[in-house]
Amino acid sequence: MVIPQLVQTQASYSSMAPKQNCKSKVSSLFSDGFLCAGGSIVALLVVWAFWSFMSTSPNTDPSFFTSSVGKKSALETPGEPTSPGFDLRYDPPDPTFYDDPDVRYTIEKPVKNWDEKRRQWLKLHPSFVPGVENRVLMVSGSQSTPCKNPIGDHLLLRFFKNKVDYCRIHGYDIFYNNILLQPKMWSFWAKMPAVKAAMLAHPEAEWIWWVDSDAAFTDMDFKLPLDRYKAHNFVVHGWEKLIYEQKSWTSINAGVFLIRNCQWSMDLMEAWSKMGPQSPEYDKWGEILRSTFKDKIFQESDDQSGLAYLLLKEKEKWGDKIYVEGQYYFEGYWVEIVGTLDNITDKYLGIEKGVPSLRRRHGEKVSESYGKVWEEHLKDAGYGRYSWRRPFITHFTGCQPCSGDHNQMYSGETCFDAMQKALNFADNQVLRKYGYMHKDLLDSSSVFPVPFDFPA
Ligand SMILES: *[C@@H]1O[C@H](CO)[C@@H](O)[C@H](O)[C@H]1NC(C)=O
Repeated sequence: MVIPQLVQTQASYSSMAPKQNCKSKVSSLFSDGFLCAGGSIVALLVVWAFWSFMSTSPNTDPSFFTSSVGKKSALETPGEPTSPGFDLRYDPPDPTFYDDPDVRYTIEKPVKNWDEKRRQWLKLHPSFVPGVENRVLMVSGSQSTPCKNPIGDHLLLRFFKNKVDYCRIHGYDIFYNNILLQPKMWSFWAKMPAVKAAMLAHPEAEWIWWVDSDAAFTDMDFKLPLDRYKAHNFVVHGWEKLIYEQKSWTSINAGVFLIRNCQWSMDLMEAWSKMGPQSPEYDKWGEILRSTFKDKIFQESDDQSGLAYLLLKEKEKWGDKIYVEGQYYFEGYWVEIVGTLDNITDKYLGIEKGVPSLRRRHGEKVSESYGKVWEEHLKDAGYGRYSWRRPFITHFTGCQPCSGDHNQMYSGETCFDAMQKALNFADNQVLRKYGYMHKDLLDSSSVFPVPFDFPA
């Protein structure tokens, strides 16, 4: 069993509060939007479709590469979220929720009727509609002051770079917040106001993906299986059995989650953040959570126990829409991962030796197409623990890179080496597209030029 989250990440943040039932699956949400949309939008969509069609034809007309006004849009084909045709200069004067003084960004003031408000905004900004169902905004953050650990800020920079790399490769936007938006919501609570603000700032995003500052992407190819989450509004890593049978507060990890940009999520954040330090109910929740989760060692209410509580005690209200993902490393505990990285590296190199198409050099922008080819060779790799697939997200729970106050279970050096190793393991997947690689995963400072047709 997992003891990891003992000192649940302090430097990075975590959770929020719940309520109702946002049946709004995106598809229905936006198909409604389509139905209600006026003729001009329909016309626009037809034009979009036409553009998509044009883009798929093998057009080599050199005039495509000049910025002639008429052809410009053919280059900016929508469809895949990675190639947005967003109209960034269009915000019509029609009133939206942004003009409503009752809609507040602050966590204390719940937003109501959000699905309708968001739908309305999208109707007025049709260039953001194509691909909206799978559009993801990553949100992360860390403290506003310098890290106490002398190398803490350096490490956070590397963790941030790692997220930027992942987002660039997959065409996701990222928002990094480093201020407490609600001054009392420190540490792991700080993520909640950030996530709520991000939902309002990005009505074009269907999902907000919170990723703790001390979590690193260690598989740059892997994509979230969003299809699997179609009927859900919230995804968190964990084990249902541990929630319901063992009532453990580490049955889930709230350091990484996906939350759908919808009213249900606003309600969830409302209920969840009521357990937070800004709330008059904070002390009460500390007691409730500690008596509910016998393995919880500290008194204060924390976001992770709070979420586990909602799953355990208010299952009928929230459980149906929360997907507890345990089938791959939606986030994984670094201690069980880091030792496997060398063998995984060897395994992948071995496969590449035998498959020329995998080692073909390519533009970073088309990396996803190679990720797809890789999948064919990873059918036997498995997922998660004991697999030889690259772990998707490695979470340095307990390492506290910023404060340096790591869990006493590990030595600082163990944490540091592990972070270096994982970050360089990830970096190799990125740097390779730029022609370089680290030779040694523990040597962050040197690289070698990758020979042509490496690793044949
Ligand atoms: C790595 O592979 C070697 C050789 O197959 C094996 O003996 C070793 O146990 C593996 N290490 C890990 C951590 O899986």
